[in-house]
Amino acid sequence: MGTPEAESGGHARVAASILDADQANLAREVRRGEHGGTDRFHLDVMDGHFVPNISFGPATVAAIRRVTKLPLDVHLMISEPSRYVSRFLDGGADSVTFHVEVDEAKEPILRAIREADRAAGLAVSPETPVEAVAPYVGLLDIVMVMGVHPGFGGQALIPECVGKIPRALALLSQRPLSEVHIDGGVSRDNAELLGAAGVDVLVAGNALYRRGRDIGREVRLIRALADEGWAISHGRPRIPRDRWVPVAVVDSVRVEPIRRELGSIGIPAIVVASDEPGDGQRQEVLVPAPAEEFVRRRLGSLTER
Ligand code: DX5
Ligand code: ZN
Repeated sequence: MGTPEAESGGHARVAASILDADQANLAREVRRGEHGGTDRFHLDVMDGHFVPNISFGPATVAAIRRVTKLPLDVHLMISEPSRYVSRFLDGGADSVTFHVEVDEAKEPILRAIREADRAAGLAVSPETPVEAVAPYVGLLDIVMVMGVHPGFGGQALIPECVGKIPRALALLSQRPLSEVHIDGGVSRDNAELLGAAGVDVLVAGNALYRRGRDIGREVRLIRALADEGWAISHGRPRIPRDRWVPVAVVDSVRVEPIRRELGSIGIPAIVVASDEPGDGQRQEVLVPAPAEEFVRRRLGSLTER
């Protein structure tokens, strides 16, 4: 909340990738992104082994952490995420996503990220079916669908990858606050299509940072087109990600069990004193809007007024 974008009520979010921004002036590039109204930053880490390119490491993530309060999504394109994940968590990443294709046990890494109270994600390269993340959905906050072969910015979106977005959403249906990201080749030319497919976060590098671009205009266009795409294909606007809605008014003694139950499925709750006349000591429970339906179903009797 608080940003003009959040108040505009849309659902889609833009993550700015600084991979192809001016690396000698990253603080300035981050500021440009912020002034342009980007929702968060996407930081691409490449080891020259998992992908044929080398970018930057945890020291750069930590340095960027010091110059922005916006969330940092770290995207690890490295062969040994288990070896380095703690350094990115220490560096202040808000989420860490690594590739489902790596030849390492995924669960311990996802658990380490979650134990640090950060969001955990798996990325899926173009040749990998999105169903590869299925065994891990109970630990996932993010599924990152690659729109290009990882390694370089500035490539064109591979159209076949778009069909993975609804499949990822279906896999995550029991985790209503999780996110599907599309990474690579995103621009105003395909944002409507991606929004219609249901994507939550659009990662954009070259569309924002190519020389001469008005970052603010591109961010606004990508976000608005994605939301329009959804509204057109579903016949209604999509629920904003960061609005809180009341789901129940209950006696104070019932608040803790509800909070525990919601916590066990990763849904935060706000509890406030009910201001309805006659409610006395009763408390109102609020959850993030996208989780409302799920919570009502799951907690049914617990939360009935
Ligand atoms: C590709 C990276 C992407 C890339 C996005 O390996 O993971 O995040 O920087 O850049 P554009 O938007 O230029 O494709
Ligand atoms: Zn990326």
